[in-house]
Amino acid sequence: DVRASPPVRRLADWDPAELESLVDDYGSPLYVLDLERVRENYRRLEAVFPDADILYAVKANALGDVLSTLREEGAGLECASAGEVQRALEAGASGSEVHYTAVNPPAGDLDWIVDAWNEHPELTVTAGSEDTIDRLADRGYDGRLCLRVNPGIGAGHHEKVRTGAAAKFGVPAERAVDVLTDAADRGFDIVGIHAHVGSGVSSDQLDAHREFVARMGDLARDVEGAVGDLELVDVGGGFGVPYREDEDPLDLASVAAATRDAIGEIDARLTIEPGRYFVADAGVLLTDVNTVKDARDTTVVGVDAGMTTLIRPAMYGAYHPIRNLTAESDGGSPEREIVPQTVAGPICESGDVFCTERELPVSKREDVLGIGNAGAYGYEMANQYNSRPRPASVVLEDGDVRLSRRRETVDDVTRPERGARSGSRGNR
Ligand code: LLP
Repeated sequence: DVRASPPVRRLADWDPAELESLVDDYGSPLYVLDLERVRENYRRLEAVFPDADILYAVKANALGDVLSTLREEGAGLECASAGEVQRALEAGASGSEVHYTAVNPPAGDLDWIVDAWNEHPELTVTAGSEDTIDRLADRGYDGRLCLRVNPGIGAGHHEKVRTGAAAKFGVPAERAVDVLTDAADRGFDIVGIHAHVGSGVSSDQLDAHREFVARMGDLARDVEGAVGDLELVDVGGGFGVPYREDEDPLDLASVAAATRDAIGEIDARLTIEPGRYFVADAGVLLTDVNTVKDARDTTVVGVDAGMTTLIRPAMYGAYHPIRNLTAESDGGSPEREIVPQTVAGPICESGDVFCTERELPVSKREDVLGIGNAGAYGYEMANQYNSRPRPASVVLEDGDVRLSRRRETVDDVTRPERGARSGSRGNR
C-alpha cells in the first residue's frame, strides 16, 4: 500500500549502480524522476487531507509525464501562466481541473486564457489585483473568479519565496470584501478566496502557518457574510520537505488538523495546491565529474551540471544532498577516503557551486555524482546562460526507464535568432 510509503525518500535510498548506468545510456547531466514516488507522495498527502481538493502546482515540475501521473491520481492543476495552462490542457485536463493564478499577468496570457475559457468555461482564474479583474472584464471574461489575498504573513525556506507577506502578491486581506463585492456586482462568478503563505514551510514555522490559515478562515467567514457562499477556500501550497540528511519531515497531520480547525464550519471546500511535496524527493540530478584539482584551500570537483541546470544552491543557498555514485558502486575502495570537496559547475560565476567543503569520497574524473531532491524547481528553473543547452529528463515507471524530454542542442539555443525577422510581437 503506497499510503504506507516512507514520508521521506533520501538520496541514500536510491541504488547507486542503477543511477550511474542511466548516464551511460542517456548522457550527462541528466534529470531522473521516479513517477512511482510521485504517486506515493500524492497518496500520502491525500490520506492526510481526505476532504480537501488537491491541485498540483505545475511550476514545481511541468513535465508532461508528471502532469498525467498526478491527474490520474485525481489532482487538479494550478497554473502560473498561460503556458502552464496550455500544458495542463494538453495533458488532458478538463477546464474544471485547471486553476490559473494570475500574477501581474502579461496581456498575451490574458488574451490566451480568455480564449481558452471560451472553450473550457469551467476554468477558474485567481486574480491578485483589481487591475487584473478589470483587464479580465475588458476581455469579456465573467467566469469563475477566485481572489488572491495578501494575508500579511509569510513563511518558507528563504526570504525570496515567502509570498504571504510580499507586497507583489494579492489584494490586502482587509480589502477583500470590497473587491469581491464589486466583482460580484460586475457579474463575475465568485468562487473563492486564495492565498499562498510561501514555499518550503518547515516544522519550526508551523505557528506562522497556523496563524495564516486562521486568518484565511476568518476572512472566508467575513466574505461569506458580505458576498454570499463560497465554493472554495484555497490556502495554497508550501509544505516543506527535508533536504538535509538529518532533517525530519513536516508533521503534515498537524498541519491538516490546524487547517481544518481554521476553516471550521463553512461549507466551502478546502483547497490546497502543493508542488514541491509531490516531486522533490522523486528526482535526482546526475552529473559527470570532469575535473578534480587541488585549489588553494579546498579540493574542487568540476562537474558538467551547473547553476544553469539546478539554480537553487546559487539562488537561495539551498542545500542539496550529494553522493558520489561511482565511488559507492566501487564498494568504497580504500583510496576513496572522505575529504571535504567543493563541487562546481561550468558556468563563469563564482556562485556556480553545488556545495563547498562537503565531506565526500575522493572524486575522480568520470565519476558520476547524484544530487538529490532535484525533482522540484530543478529543470523548471534551468536556463541557457553561457549558451548551455538544457539537459535531458528520464522517468522511471513500472520498472522501466524512458526518455521524457530530450537533451537540448546548441541549435535549440540559437533557433530564436534565426526566426527573428518573422518573430511575433506576442508577449505570452
Ligand atoms: N501556489 C502558489 C500560488 C505558488 O506561488 C506556489 C509556489 C505554490 C502554490 C507551490 O508551492 P510549493 O508547494 O511548491 O512550495 N523556486 C523556489 C520555490 C518557489 C515557489 C513559488 N510558488 C524554490 O526552488 O525553492
